[in-house]
Amino acid sequence: MSDYVRIFDTTLRDGEQSPGASLTSAEKLEIARQLAKLGVDIIEAGFPAASPDDLEGVKQIAQEVGNPVDSNARVPIIAGLARANKNDIDKAWEAVKHARQPRIHTFLATSDIHLKYKLKMSREEVVERVREMVSYAKTFCDDVEFSPEDAGRSDPEYLLEVLEVAIRAGATTLNIPDTVGYTTPQEFGALIKGLIENTPGAEQVVWSVHCHDDLGLATANTLAGVTNGARQVEVTMNGIGERAGNTSLEEVVMAIHTRPALFGLQHGIDTTQIARASRMVSNFTGIPVQPNKAIVGANAFAHEAGIHQDGMLKNNMTYEIMKPETVGVNASRLVLGKHSGRHALKARFDELGYNLSDDELDQAFARFKELADKKKVITDADLEALVSDEIASYNELYSLDGMQVVCGTMGMPTATVRLRDPEGKSHTVAAIGTGPVDAVYKAIDAIVNCPITLLEFNIHAVTEGIDALGQVTVRIQAKDAQTRMDALREIARTRTFGGYGADTDIIVASAKAYLAALNKLLIVMQARENAMSSEVALMA
Ligand code: KIV
Ligand code: ZN
Repeated sequence: MSDYVRIFDTTLRDGEQSPGASLTSAEKLEIARQLAKLGVDIIEAGFPAASPDDLEGVKQIAQEVGNPVDSNARVPIIAGLARANKNDIDKAWEAVKHARQPRIHTFLATSDIHLKYKLKMSREEVVERVREMVSYAKTFCDDVEFSPEDAGRSDPEYLLEVLEVAIRAGATTLNIPDTVGYTTPQEFGALIKGLIENTPGAEQVVWSVHCHDDLGLATANTLAGVTNGARQVEVTMNGIGERAGNTSLEEVVMAIHTRPALFGLQHGIDTTQIARASRMVSNFTGIPVQPNKAIVGANAFAHEAGIHQDGMLKNNMTYEIMKPETVGVNASRLVLGKHSGRHALKARFDELGYNLSDDELDQAFARFKELADKKKVITDADLEALVSDEIASYNELYSLDGMQVVCGTMGMPTATVRLRDPEGKSHTVAAIGTGPVDAVYKAIDAIVNCPITLLEFNIHAVTEGIDALGQVTVRIQAKDAQTRMDALREIARTRTFGGYGADTDIIVASAKAYLAALNKLLIVMQARENAMSSEVALMA
């Protein structure tokens, strides 16, 4: 058996199903570029049947990231998810066929509880559907992955039957999901071992594991999976995903990387890109990383206790099992100064992996000069924050034209905000709030007139120092938000939206983050209204 473990990243599909993680297509494309740079083997770029926008997003990634211009670059497989029906498979193919290495990933539940209450199908009907739909996917694409959803709670004997049929129908990867994070490492490892040993044709396919973190066991279960023969792991950056999330890429990769003698496994990840990928996903989704998160948390390499510091000074291996540089932490260094020119900035962005167009570079350069006037030391993390902020503003309906805030102990916090609306008209409103951020948000609300609830507000500094850039992430929900059916899960959900903003002025960063989230919400509302009016037109 090969000792190479394929890293299948599903940040853009399962990760995007996290509450508030809605990403714009520009953000998805940027994350996909970074995942390719990170060296993931497979990018699951989305669920194309969910909406025309999702299909377009996957197609864009397949066209660009799935076809690198650099002939020496590793080419990631681009996968699209499809339920086991012809429409979903058609849509997945339509999106991924543009990639040099496309994959259709189709799934159908196999646990009795899903069969009875969700699918309302018998075991025999499920087997038949798997045979038909894997064969159907195979008519388009050589590379077909099949997942028996809720495998963790399925009858293992029945799983063997379903998986044998999937192999005969042409599946090339069999992925075993612990969909609700129910199993323990011992159980899950034994399940994988049993399936590999007893499924006829098992040696013809790659075995994969896909774990959720409901009991905090996703990483442990995934590692139990690879120890028992799985050679693909399905993971997300920062472990984002539905409910408690998915297995986190950084934890699994660094476990394999840090304990080579124990696992004896190879991977293709450039670990120095991990911190950057983590920051990008956190910024774009608006989901902060908890400080004590393994590998990518702000405290993961911090040593406060005196006794630890003493040991670290003598030999850093006393308390550190991996070096921060190995995962790209501390790679943040002085890169450019006040007098650096446009060429130097472009060169640094190129090195960081951002291929900015001339217009984008002009804007980034203007922001860089502004920042360099306020901040002496400009690091890679600052540049990343600037680009994230720029990308977050691509899909703007309303843009911030100017703002002024008065606050303190002597009067009422008051904000005057000027926004430009989608038609380019300028609106200026002043509002009073309980604090400066509240006053700004009230003024924005008065202009945009879309009642929302602020669910979450987070603020932190990009780097150390009093002149650091502040970054703000928020999560909002429309006040009259209706639940809508989630096509994938077939359950009702209320959608929430995240936004990101960065500035040396934290109140300005707060305004930008709020506007970014509002713009995402407005775009989705507009798309829904357009879809409804075209349905009405068709009926007329
Ligand atoms: O958790 C799950 O079962 C999934 C499948 C669609 C693979 O995400
Ligand atoms: Zn999942």
